[in-house]
Amino acid sequence: MAMIGVIGTGSMGGMLIRKFVETGAFTAGDVMASNRSADKAKAIAAATGIGIAGSNLDLVAASDVIFICVKPLEVKALLKELKGVLTADKLVVSIAADVTIGDISALCDARVTRVIPSITSECSKGVSLVAFGDNSTEADRSLVLSALGSISRPVETEEENLELLADLTSCAPAFISSMMHEFALSATRRENISPGLAELLVMETLAGTVELLKNVNSFEEVVTRVATKGGITEEGVKVIRKVAPSMYDELLEVTMAKHDLVKDRIRDQAS
Ligand SMILES: NC(=O)c1ccc[n+]([C@@H]2O[C@H](COP(=O)([O-])OP(=O)(O)OC[C@H]3O[C@@H](n4cnc5c(N)ncnc54)[C@H](OP(=O)(O)O)[C@@H]3O)[C@@H](O)[C@H]2O)c1
Repeated sequence: MAMIGVIGTGSMGGMLIRKFVETGAFTAGDVMASNRSADKAKAIAAATGIGIAGSNLDLVAASDVIFICVKPLEVKALLKELKGVLTADKLVVSIAADVTIGDISALCDARVTRVIPSITSECSKGVSLVAFGDNSTEADRSLVLSALGSISRPVETEEENLELLADLTSCAPAFISSMMHEFALSATRRENISPGLAELLVMETLAGTVELLKNVNSFEEVVTRVATKGGITEEGVKVIRKVAPSMYDELLEVTMAKHDLVKDRIRDQAS
């Protein structure tokens, strides 16, 4: 059985550990974690039964697969700390946005896979994007896809598409929530409806729409079923189709520009 190490038990690292153990993707006894501030690692260990490593170096020494769950601008410093120990027999799975397989491979000899998880894995839903490095083995693919499959739907993609697709999976819970919030708020601006009620109605309808979508598997099908020709809903759909394309084009424009900025900052960090 492969021994799993997780470096960084923040929001995402913590969620992955909890879900991997809860779903049985990995046995708690096969997982250990390390974190810059020890208390956070202790808390997740107490909650899940995983082990705690005394240091990042100890963790790597005891692990076959190392999940790197620190912030993008913290990855290079971590890899420098681990210089010489991330050897070719180890697999690094980095969840850091914008840190490329090339960036990581330049600082270690381990095989490298990138994963972009989503907070939706908290409820075992949503997509984990995966890009395997050229030297990945069949065993790497099987381990990573099976673990992610227990907490999400893993979707393999070329690394060059990761950032754009991550907007549709990893950033999307925030985009969808903020869109739905604006929709609810719009009703409160027209009539004396409480924001709480408007939010509840939209939330319940969103949940119902997700269930409907599972049956029909197409956004267009749901639109057609509700927006009958010449009806009221059709008028609203026309507005969305007029206004939304430019909003989403602008959204992707600014998020892609931000990715470029972060990538530049990572490249500028001393190697
Ligand atoms: N949040 C999301 O929805 C999401 C989605 C997809 C991918 N990601 C990626 O996930 C990564 C982590 O994001 P996050 O939101 O989980 O951030 P976070 O909550 O700040 O967690 C990062 C953790 O890494 C620890 N850390 C930093 N440097 C370390 C080191 N050298 N050794 C050990 N531990 C170290 C930090 O420790 P301290 O307790 O000392 O701060 C912190 O607990 C990012 O690279 C991000 O791009 C996030």
